[in-house]
Amino acid sequence: MRILSGIQPSGRLHIGNYFGMMEPSIRLQDEGEAFYFIADYHALTSTHDPAQLREHVRNLAIDFLACGLDPEKATFWKQSDVVEVTELAWILSCVTPMGLLERCVSYKDKVGQGLSPSHGLFAYPVLQAADIVIFDANVVPVGKDQKQHLEVTRDIAQKFNDRYGDGLLVIPEPRIREETAMVPGLDGRKMSKSYENTIDIFEETEKKLRSKIMKIVTDSTAVEEAKNPDESYIVQLYRLFSGASAAVEMEASFRAGGQGYGHYKQQLFESIRDYFAPMRERRDALAADPGYVDDVLAEGAKKARVQARLVMDRVRAAVGM
Ligand code: ADP
Ligand code: TRP
Repeated sequence: MRILSGIQPSGRLHIGNYFGMMEPSIRLQDEGEAFYFIADYHALTSTHDPAQLREHVRNLAIDFLACGLDPEKATFWKQSDVVEVTELAWILSCVTPMGLLERCVSYKDKVGQGLSPSHGLFAYPVLQAADIVIFDANVVPVGKDQKQHLEVTRDIAQKFNDRYGDGLLVIPEPRIREETAMVPGLDGRKMSKSYENTIDIFEETEKKLRSKIMKIVTDSTAVEEAKNPDESYIVQLYRLFSGASAAVEMEASFRAGGQGYGHYKQQLFESIRDYFAPMRERRDALAADPGYVDDVLAEGAKKARVQARLVMDRVRAAVGM
């Protein structure tokens, strides 16, 4: 099994990114050949400040390593160090029907949010397809919002195979875990940078983490009354951090009544703080050793390029180059 995923360096990571993409990727690194990268070409669609892009790439590398990405097990690199993907993206764009891209919800959403509709933003899913097929990846762990992009990847790869030869490109499967497919944000919508409803993995201070959690939207059920755990974002988030039995206890306490939402938010705060504490420690150590992080990415790029070139040789020959 070859596992591959990527994430854009577009600022601070939140717990939706963590449970949707990072944690499943970290788990899978023990189950097959894992390839993970920082999608900096993709980030050019929204980040236009070079110093900021560099800083985001560095922070993302540190955060992912701190969370448990193990460079002994997984190949970890920066997308732009494997320039072959841009060549493949061009070749794939010549088999990609316009209509396929016109249907992409993520493009329409981003333009709706005010991002300028550049060709790069429109062609984003073609580059993503290239990222995946250039490594013959068959499993791609992502959050639910990437499902459509994975379908586009499969369509493009199939179109390529139909035109140039069966089996030339591997058709990948998305791996979307139901429990964490969509982590809710403070307001109950999908947690997302664009909605400003995030809880970051590494909030600057405990105080800031706590004050964010206290902002989680609740209804106005009184302290003594029974509460519905099934509709509570506090419970949904707590389940991710606490383990099953603690979550069942919180649910029972909701149904029994007698505690205010503030009490449960405090429990959630403590579980998030404790969950990320060891990673925070590792992150401090990594931040103090920039040479190590550079070496990991350079080594990863070297390994990734060897693989990418194998597929490129196949593709170039198939299309007549
Ligand atoms: P954002 O919506 O904050 O801009 P991205 O689109 O950069 O996040 O997502 C990066 C990765 O994290 C993707 O694999 C995506 O599916 C996953 N992800 C983002 N938000 C969530 C969420 N709320 N729940 C589950 N997965 C998420
Ligand atoms: N589009 C993905 C996101 O926004 C990032 C990404 C780029 C990706 N290339 C990929 C994810 C290849 C999986 C596989 O999160």
